[in-house]
Amino acid sequence: MNVLLVGSGGREHALAWKLAQSPSLSTLYAAPGNPGIADHATCVALNVADHAAVIAFCAQHAITFVVIGPEAPLVDGLGDALRATEIGVFGPDAAAAQLEGSKGFTKDLCARADIPTAGYVRVTSLDAARAALADFGLPVVIKADGLAAGKGVTIAETAADADAALTALFAEPGGEAVIEQFLTGEEASLFVLTDGTAILPIGSAQDHKRVGDGDAGPNTGGMGAYSPARVLTAELEALAIDRIVRPTVAAMAADGVPFKGVLYAGLMLTDTGPQLIEYNARFGDPECQVLMMRLESDLLDLMIATDRGTLGDLPPARFSDRTALTVVMAANGYPGTPEEGGRITGVDAAEAQGTKVFHAGTAMTDDGLVANGGRVLAVTALGTTVAEAQATAYRGVDALNFPSGFARRDIGWREIAREGR
Ligand code: AMP
Ligand code: GLY
Repeated sequence: MNVLLVGSGGREHALAWKLAQSPSLSTLYAAPGNPGIADHATCVALNVADHAAVIAFCAQHAITFVVIGPEAPLVDGLGDALRATEIGVFGPDAAAAQLEGSKGFTKDLCARADIPTAGYVRVTSLDAARAALADFGLPVVIKADGLAAGKGVTIAETAADADAALTALFAEPGGEAVIEQFLTGEEASLFVLTDGTAILPIGSAQDHKRVGDGDAGPNTGGMGAYSPARVLTAELEALAIDRIVRPTVAAMAADGVPFKGVLYAGLMLTDTGPQLIEYNARFGDPECQVLMMRLESDLLDLMIATDRGTLGDLPPARFSDRTALTVVMAANGYPGTPEEGGRITGVDAAEAQGTKVFHAGTAMTDDGLVANGGRVLAVTALGTTVAEAQATAYRGVDALNFPSGFARRDIGWREIAREGR
């Protein structure tokens, strides 16, 4: 089977690397891909917002399955357009991608299906928002309704901060927000594949969102991650599936918008059990890198089953029982304006240390490999303990020569502290 992979980040490099191991794969294409993905795929410049062009490309190259990595093309209906021509797709249709595309949609679904999540109100004007704030204590959480590339959430510690966040959010006409109660606990991410009916867990992870060591500084897309998230015990995972994921999948199907693809549940493990923070309609980045390192089952078979509705016929996914840990190397300036074009050498030396180096934001030039984005590389390793995976990953980081880049030095600290006890 010929497959097209949409995307260009570290997540997509990990997917390409794993798809390339599938016996059912003939040729893999990637749009646009990156220099790491190019080891496994033919990279093509294709405007994925032009659905007709994507369909024409698939017809020309006998592509019968498309894997959509990022959320934007899902919310934009690329899945719907492809399915209408009977090309198979990994990823939900636009209406189902609303689970990520609209926070208000998801909160309303949780309310209807009695899914544990923070108390909330949806507001569409600054006046309504200010009036609603009175019902919440502090801190209070304020979220833009739509896709915001990780920048749409404010945790306001004071009434003044809350007012400032809401004022900014409603500065443009058409603003919509969710105000919600602040939850306390440890966060963990649970990933499940679903074909709209059946559910197949595909791993758990914890990430590090802040840019600096000790979880200091501004939020990023994720500076590192590890899998599994041991804090999400088998018991808590079962509870999260029964109370959160299964009712969501059932409600979506009952509403005529079955969700097909990977459902990424961001969970808060509170004193009263797991609560849903948010859903994403795609794999996490860099969480995908650690999930793919551990996955032993055939990824393409699993993805096809989510599209065809045959997931229930497959056995549970198999995983290495080792821990995977990934350290993101970012370009100086990230998450602000990253320095572009910095030279990178030593990828082979890093891999000789026992790591897999996934490309996240790189470009190949006449001068060799250079940085081309905020998050540039994800240096990933397996270990029998988190400490061992971390030590291997940092040996890889230290073997890289990327003078205009940086990494956090403490990825996995929470688990390593627990291991040390
Ligand atoms: P989201 O984009 O919804 O994942 O939010 C980004 C981050 O904000 C989450 O990973 C949490 O750390 C935090 N967050 C979001 N909602 C809440 C909440 N209700 N209570 C506490 N923290 C939250
Ligand atoms: N690493 C967080 C995300 O992919 O949304």
